[in-house]
Amino acid sequence: MNLYFDHNATSPLRQRVREGIIRALKEGIGANPSSVHREGRKAKKHLENARQNIAKHFSCAPSQILFTSGACESIRIAWEKYSHTNSKILTSPIEHSCVLSSAKKAQRQGSQVDVLKVLSSGALSDSAAKHDYDFISLQKANNETGLLYDLSPYRSHLGPKGVMFCDAVQAAGKTELSFSTKPYDLMAIAGHKLGALSGIGMLIFKDASMIEPILEGSQERGLRAGTENLLGILSVDYALQELKESGEKEQQSIRQLRDDFEKELKQRISDIEITGEQLPRLYNTSHVQFRGLDGESLVTALDLEGFCVSMGSACSSGTIEPSHVLLAMGMSRKSALSSLRFSFGWNHRQEDIEKLLDSLPAIVDRVRKG
Ligand SMILES: Cc1ncc(COP(=O)(O)O)c(C=O)c1O
Repeated sequence: MNLYFDHNATSPLRQRVREGIIRALKEGIGANPSSVHREGRKAKKHLENARQNIAKHFSCAPSQILFTSGACESIRIAWEKYSHTNSKILTSPIEHSCVLSSAKKAQRQGSQVDVLKVLSSGALSDSAAKHDYDFISLQKANNETGLLYDLSPYRSHLGPKGVMFCDAVQAAGKTELSFSTKPYDLMAIAGHKLGALSGIGMLIFKDASMIEPILEGSQERGLRAGTENLLGILSVDYALQELKESGEKEQQSIRQLRDDFEKELKQRISDIEITGEQLPRLYNTSHVQFRGLDGESLVTALDLEGFCVSMGSACSSGTIEPSHVLLAMGMSRKSALSSLRFSFGWNHRQEDIEKLLDSLPAIVDRVRKG
């Protein structure tokens, strides 16, 4: 049996989501919510009901939610209005690649993009940042290291009409995200990190005037073209319902598993380092550097024994490139390429962690010996 420790990439479908989708399919929910006939009206009713529930969860108005095809689209839409000549933008080098490519596009379109410095711990330094930005784009939690960031201080770096965007993809479902009390004006979320379907994302916004559509059309109150992904939207509602019921208990149990994993790992394997161990970080993520081995070989060896973990690095043309996040933290290429991410989630039990811990020392030893 495969054991999957890659929840930060995609969290498997929650039970409530599976059941809800099967029920919706059986009930034939799936017409176009824009159609005026009764099936269309039925779909619309389900869509708006889900929007209301999701809005309640994130403490925003239903009209402040724009459904998209995923977080990358949400991020690109958030950047669109501010990516032009004379625009002053602040971001960081440890953002998701989609933010980094949005920053490159903004630069090509004439924006001035400043990038925060990163300390070796992974913390951000705002020492060189100015105070007149039109747009600030920062993540709440890093997908690779799991480090959490307090974005409040960055608000003071905005100019008078400035807007702050938060990539909340990894934080959603794992930290409290009441939008109305947060210091940001726009926030991106992805369904599949919550245990809902892939291919559904959200951009939550304070004011529609902050959004310039990238696909002009009549859906989503004129903010996006394209028939809404109704089953995807319903799946987010179901996932959030499950999270609401199991939330606190689930989080404590995952934190306990992660902490036990790290404690045992340090005892059983020498020459390892846990990234950001003493810093605020996601309770489900363990980012570990195994000195003296090639991370790709370790991922492959673990995979052969049925353990799915990730390096968090990009694979281009068959070569694993070191993670841009780790390089920005000042790690050498070699250290970055010897680091792995274990991300735990709602479906893990003590036995799963024990199986991993029982196998890992011998596998690491083998890979280290080459
Ligand atoms: C922090 C962060 N932002 C954005 C994304 C992009 O999400 P998606 O691939 O669902 O569009 C991811 C996905 O891994 C992520 O971890």
